[in-house]
Amino acid sequence: MNILAIESSCDETAAAVVRDGRTVLSNCIASQIEMHTIYGGVVPEIASRKHVEAVTGLAEQAVAQAGLTKSDLDAVAVTYAPGLIGAVLVGVNFAKGAALALDLPLIPVHHVRGHIAANYITHPDLEPPFVCLCVSGGTTLIVDVKSYTEMEVLGGTRDDAAGECFDKVARVLGIGYPGGGPMDRLARGGDDTRYELPRAHVAGHDLDMSFSGLKTASLNLIHNAQQKGEELDLPDFAASFGRAVSESLVPRVMAAARQRGYGRVAVAGGVAANSRIRADLTAACQESGDRLFLPELKYCGDNAAMIGCQGYYEWKAGHTAGLELNAYATRGISLG
Ligand code: KG4
Repeated sequence: MNILAIESSCDETAAAVVRDGRTVLSNCIASQIEMHTIYGGVVPEIASRKHVEAVTGLAEQAVAQAGLTKSDLDAVAVTYAPGLIGAVLVGVNFAKGAALALDLPLIPVHHVRGHIAANYITHPDLEPPFVCLCVSGGTTLIVDVKSYTEMEVLGGTRDDAAGECFDKVARVLGIGYPGGGPMDRLARGGDDTRYELPRAHVAGHDLDMSFSGLKTASLNLIHNAQQKGEELDLPDFAASFGRAVSESLVPRVMAAARQRGYGRVAVAGGVAANSRIRADLTAACQESGDRLFLPELKYCGDNAAMIGCQGYYEWKAGHTAGLELNAYATRGISLG
């Protein structure tokens, strides 16, 4: 089954063709990062306009790169939630038009379910159930992936997502947007004990997290140093910050893994590319005996291959939609 998949929830327009859920025939991405860099963050209206300009050409490119023609397609899958509403709407409307014109089933895919499915592409033998840490610019969740289409949220952030925290701190440091990658690179070789940063606990909810205190403490530390004319050691700060994020995430996903007892742990989303988090998870799983699944770096950030992969399993579960399909800025991952 050849699925044309479309993703446009934030600042990447993406189109891919995926065969039978696990084989990526093409994976095309048009990034808008350069456009938003001058503003230090995503400007939603610009994102929507750029998606409109890119989506048709990108879908055609994805079909051609897969070595197929439109008549070889069997379904159209699309991210319908969550994301910047104007941006998601562009993908949803394009997918509806394509499904109607080609007389194909339309498959709505939750963006975070897509991130989780990126692991199926990298690890052909991975099957649910497993526990997955989903960490991106908009989401920080610990999910029990009970089956390909049944998910239970075990914990999550009460405020900022981990990626958002990376981005805000990096913006104030002036080291680029999005900030997670540059912070990660800076941290290599830094002393992670140099700066003391807080780790939050949510009383009575051991699997929940909070990153707004870490963000505020980091911004205060940076501003204080600036006001006093002191120079912050950037590698040491980035290493201390990366450690604080990792120590907020890794023990909690390991606690969830112990609770569920599946013996399998995965990680997903843009922040899953972080080398400190990957190393800490690897060490934790070696100690616990859980098998760890890390997505390839190219499938951590937003892409459409992951949407085509999850779309296959949604289709198998009968989760298709008609032309009434709407886009949603927020939507729980547990909802089908
Ligand atoms: O999954 P993604 O591309 O978009 C969302 O669905 O949100 O994630 C983007 C986020 C950004 O916050 C970015 O700074 C972060 O992923 N990120 C990283 C790294 N690479 C990207 N964060 C930490 N370390 C990285 N290496």
